[in-house]
Parts: sequence; structure tokens; C-alpha cells
Amino acid sequence: MEFKYIIYEKSEGIATITINRPEALNAFNADVINEILQALEDVKADENVRVVVLTGAGEKAFSAGADIKAMKGMNALKARELSQMGEKLCSALENLEKPVIAAINGYALGGGLEVAMACDIRIASENARMGQTEINIGLIPGWGGTQRLTRLIGMTKAKELIFTGKMIDARTAEQLGLVNMVVPQDKFREAVRQFALELAQKAPIALKVAKALINKGAEISLDAAIALEREGFGVVASTEDLQEGVLAFIEKRKPMFKGR
Ligand code: CAA
Repeated sequence: MEFKYIIYEKSEGIATITINRPEALNAFNADVINEILQALEDVKADENVRVVVLTGAGEKAFSAGADIKAMKGMNALKARELSQMGEKLCSALENLEKPVIAAINGYALGGGLEVAMACDIRIASENARMGQTEINIGLIPGWGGTQRLTRLIGMTKAKELIFTGKMIDARTAEQLGLVNMVVPQDKFREAVRQFALELAQKAPIALKVAKALINKGAEISLDAAIALEREGFGVVASTEDLQEGVLAFIEKRKPMFKGR
């Protein structure tokens, strides 16, 4: 597949999507979003892909958010379109039936942080800086930031970050539960690869059902969520992979999951 604004690579069961506009700190425009959506369609269709890594080109940014320059003279209809575009990307990542890791290798600001928050796992390099900085240009988060940030770190800190627009460093983000782990810059790419490889070797159907249950469960009552979990448990229990996992345990060997 040919892309202009992203780099799309597949190896070892990992699909890596790199936002490739380093001269604009990997800011999102419509083309970047459309290309990522196309790559995600390929991920869906390719059963050899078990996990996705989303990252930014260069050492400076995951993404500095929506393209601010394209906002000059923007009217309400265009802003609504921009919001819809970002929501479409976030929901494609959130609803993808495979785990997605955001490898935050620098700034993740505004829409950049919102996209990272729609991923399942966030690994930050030590130089990463995160923030919902929209307020500084007289705007609010428009790709789910008011909702996902609040769900991830709670209302107290979400309001502080969204109202002040300040950036936090990687360690603070880890303390807030915004990122899963922080890795020194020189070990970052390898740490992300190792984490992705670990997920790539897990049972794909179990991962898919667990992701859906965790995401859906956050939106519904506990009783309804537990009932869904029961059904999901039944589905996963009917897979060949469970039998492989049980056999591997008994035979004291590593399981080979096939996604069946
Ligand atoms: N959109 C377009 N271009 C951007 C950009 C963005 N979001 N962020 C950075 N760039 C461009 C800069 O304009 C600059 O390009 P030029 O050299 O052509 O001027 C280039 O990237 C490098 O940036 P800086 O020179 O500013 O780099 P710096 O190291 O001095 O500062 C920064 C880095 C603090 C991240 C600063 O670039 C910055 O504050 N960027 C904006 C971040 C932001 O506010 N993002 C939110 C966008 S709104 C949004 O995302 C809405 C939403 O919810 C969907």
C-alpha cells in the first residue's frame, strides 16, 4: 500500500503505523486521518496482524494535534467536520478487534493526546509531553478529550488539565494513570516492540473479547456488564485456543495460539 503521510509496516504479527509529518510535529490533517483509516482496514483484513502500534516520525512528537494552520477562518460547519473526522479515527482505533498501542515518542497534544487515549495501551518515552492544550488557542478538545481524559484520570485532574491547557511530563502522566509505562528514550522502540510481541503471542479471540468487554462495560451498568462478560466467557471458552492453552499448561510448554 502506498501512503504519503504515514509509514505502514508489518512484521512479527505487529502492524506499525507511523504518522509521518515531522516538519509539522505530526499534526493531523484530513489526509493523515484517511491514510490511517485505510491502514486500519488492512489490519482488519490481515489475520497475521495481531497487534497495532501507532507512533510518530522523528524524536520530537507523537502528534501535536489537529492542524492549527488549517483552522484559520474555520466556520462552525468546518469545525464540526473536523470533529467528526477525529471521532471517526478514535472510534476506529477503539473498536478495532485487535489491541492498539500508542507509542508516545514526544509531544501528544490536543488531538494527538485524544488519539492516543483511544488506543488500548500507552507507552511513553521519557521526553514525552502530554496535554489538552486547546484552551490556549481559545478552543476545547474536539475528539473526545473531555470524555476519555475524564474516564481515564478522573474529573478532578481532567478539569485541571483541560482548563489550564498545561503540558505534563511522562512521569506525571504515569502517576495519573494516563500512560501505562515510561521508558528511557534510547530503549523506547525496543520496549514498544517487546510489549507488542508479547500481545501478538496471546490468544487473539480472548484479546478481542476482553477489549470489547472492558470498553463496553465502562458505558453500562455493572450488572449488565457482568452479564456481557458471562456471554463473552462462554464464547472464548469455545475456542480451539483455550484447548491449546490448557494442553500447553499440562504439557509444560508455551502455547501456540491460532485465533480459532
Ligand atoms: N498544527 C499545525 N502545525 C503545527 C502544530 C499543529 N498542531 N504544532 C506544531 N506545528 C508546526 C509549527 O507551526 C512549526 O511549523 P513551521 O516551522 O512551519 O512554523 C513546526 O510544527 C514545529 O513547531 P514549533 O516550531 O512550534 O516547535 P516548538 O518546539 O517550538 O514547539 C510545541 C512545540 C510546543 C508542540 C508547539 O508546536 C505547539 O504548541 N503546537 C501546538 C500544539 C497544540 O496546541 N495542539 C492542539 C491543536 S488543536 C486540536 O488538536 C483540537 C482538537 O481537539 C481536535
